[in-house]
Amino acid sequence: MALLSILFLAPAVTFADPDARRAGMVEASAEFSGRLRAALQAAMREGGPVAAIQVCHQQAPAIARAVGAERSLLVRRTGVRLRNPGNVADPLDQQLMEDFARQIAGGKDPAALEDLSSTTDGRLRYTRAIPVEAVCLACHGETIAPSVSEAITAHYPDDRATGFRPGQLRGLLVVEALNP
Ligand code: HEC
Repeated sequence: MALLSILFLAPAVTFADPDARRAGMVEASAEFSGRLRAALQAAMREGGPVAAIQVCHQQAPAIARAVGAERSLLVRRTGVRLRNPGNVADPLDQQLMEDFARQIAGGKDPAALEDLSSTTDGRLRYTRAIPVEAVCLACHGETIAPSVSEAITAHYPDDRATGFRPGQLRGLLVVEALNP
């Protein structure tokens, strides 16, 4: 009986209550960041940035897919200047990146920048700013070691995602509902 009521109640909470849906999306974004950060830091410790590029290349999309699939959400990233052209920004991403960059320039803490909107086809989406931190600079900073640069270019011949400084906006983490 207890199980039956859980089965019966869970979807109602997940899909009807906007606060619960938002909370689920915020959780998914934290889950994605936490898992990717752990994978990145382990790879950096074990093999340095050249080895870690392989991890970002494979794990970033894989973790996004896994976290999304667990919660029936779409999890993706985009960037101010792209490394992976597949992470292209949609018009709302573009608008939010401009808005977030303006707020950061005005002194706002980038870690606090988030947005809850709808996609053009009416699905709920949660967006969070991704700021540049010290740990990112080996692969996104102003000075990239030649071996790192070579490894990046091997996977991303049109890479534009270098030249960043700590505290700047690197991109967005976007979580989208699959249904209206
Ligand atoms: C070891 C190298 C490396 C480090 C360190 C690194 N990245 Fe990346 N980053 C990459 C690679 C490789 C990609 C492309 C991943 C893909 O194919 O989706 C990428 C892509 C991204 C993207 C997606 C947008 C785009 O340009 O394709 C964002 C956002 C991003 N990184 C943010 C960060 C942040 C923030 C940090 C620090 C917390 C960081 N990265 C640290 C290598 C790195």
